[in-house]
Amino acid sequence: MDIHEICRLAEQHKKRSIIDLFIDNERADKYSVSAANLYLDYSKQNINDDELAALYLWATEKKLSEKISALFTGNSIDGSNINNTEDRQVLHSALRAPESIKHQVLGCDAADVINTEKQMASIVTGIISGSLVSASNQKYTDVLAIGIGGSFYGIKVALSALKPYQNELNVHVLANVDGGAVQEKLQLLSAETTLVIVISKTFTTQETLLNALAVKEWMLAASIHSDIIAKQWYAVSTNISKATEFGIDENNILPMWDWVGGRFSLWSAVGLPLALAIGNDNYACLKAGAYQMDEHFHNTPLENNMPVIMALIGIWNRNGLQCPSLAILPYDHALRALPGYLQQTDMESNGKSVSNQGEKLTWQTAPVVFGQEGTNGQHAFMQLMHQSEDIIPTDFIVAIQGSSQYQKHHQVLVANCLAQSEALMQGKTLLQAQNELIAQGKTPEQVEQLACHKTMKGNTPSNTLLMDKLSPVSLGALLALYEHKIFVQGMMWQVNSFDQWGVELGKELGQKIMNVMQGDENDNLSSSSLSLIKKFKNQLID
Ligand code: F6P
Repeated sequence: MDIHEICRLAEQHKKRSIIDLFIDNERADKYSVSAANLYLDYSKQNINDDELAALYLWATEKKLSEKISALFTGNSIDGSNINNTEDRQVLHSALRAPESIKHQVLGCDAADVINTEKQMASIVTGIISGSLVSASNQKYTDVLAIGIGGSFYGIKVALSALKPYQNELNVHVLANVDGGAVQEKLQLLSAETTLVIVISKTFTTQETLLNALAVKEWMLAASIHSDIIAKQWYAVSTNISKATEFGIDENNILPMWDWVGGRFSLWSAVGLPLALAIGNDNYACLKAGAYQMDEHFHNTPLENNMPVIMALIGIWNRNGLQCPSLAILPYDHALRALPGYLQQTDMESNGKSVSNQGEKLTWQTAPVVFGQEGTNGQHAFMQLMHQSEDIIPTDFIVAIQGSSQYQKHHQVLVANCLAQSEALMQGKTLLQAQNELIAQGKTPEQVEQLACHKTMKGNTPSNTLLMDKLSPVSLGALLALYEHKIFVQGMMWQVNSFDQWGVELGKELGQKIMNVMQGDENDNLSSSSLSLIKKFKNQLID
């Protein structure tokens, strides 16, 4: 079995109506699975028992279970580290495992990891209690986390999601190099009571360093305390020397490790801003929820394994049904940052076309991931999803219990979520549209004219993920679920999900264009770019 056989199998059923699959009255029960406080209903997917069986057979032949074990043990796969192009292990799941597992899996790094967790917890306790004060001996009121990509998205999605669990510390994130973003934050802050955390695995990221320098200059200018940087600044990085060179006290630098990819690093000291916002206990619950999903993923047979099911059906949709996109629609204002987080986690991991062995792939890989909170999406892109020819598989995510006192609002929110998944599957035929218009008393001419505009293709597959309530535990499980789904897809697509060489060219050209803007000779840039640089330099658009 290989992916091309899977595609051939799907080809035969591309025109099948999902609704017809519900002839099996047991389908909703059979095509659902629970794990780590989450419930996945995948019955609205365009797939049947035999096709699922073929996917599981393919995964078994590809030794997926052994590969899953390698993720948790650090063992090599086919003689190489999982992140083979950077020759690094992939062990972010160990960060949320009990200490006994940390010692088993992390070897000599275990003690460092455990000590760093203790240092994090001590900083959090000290800052929240006020025993750790600023250079002017004041209790901290604000925290500013400076970082981008994986040094930003995980913190952002969790801060938004766990607002109800936050204490009185105001935790801000600054990612973009746009000075507007810097000004917007600094206007909110007082230098004397702000803790700054520079988060950068490499400590070489242009945006982060420029932002950190601007904030450092702002803070030094605003304070009479010469030790304000040494006292109020922390860093999280693998690059201790660069961080100390920047002026951060070595005792305030928390380490990261090469076996933690940036987009999988919320469970490391990268999570410090979040832990400051929600406290040590809630941060521990986030990791506990993720660990529950790890245990499910590591120990459950493929057929009942939630990340495996989502991954394989995602491949069925992407490669079999040839759907190029994936919509992530959290029907929860608190999860509004989830689509953006998953854009990096999914597309930066699997948006590749060369296998981990260096061969050009003959199949597609990661879909284009997009989305926003529901019900807002219904007033944005749902028109296209219902009436364009493009079928866009969708993940709906909703909590049974709302997080506000507005029960009616939550009922309407949930009803809309379920309605959209039903509507995307059912669609509306021409006959149904005609009968509706007739029932509304429209004239035959009006029915003739309007009915075709009211048809909807339907047959759009979707998952619906339910959680009892959005909490640190359920959020941890949700983020780990998607991490593992993406891991499985990377393994089945035979790509390295843990490098990101594709971001290098943009960075290189960015530096070249900066140099040309500052007067260097153009370095075989296109006339378009040179013309645009010229307009920028002349500050005019004629
Ligand atoms: O987006 C490219 C990338 O390298 C991500 O993988 C990473 O999370 C981000 O930039 C920031 O990198 P750093 O944490 O080293 O500043």
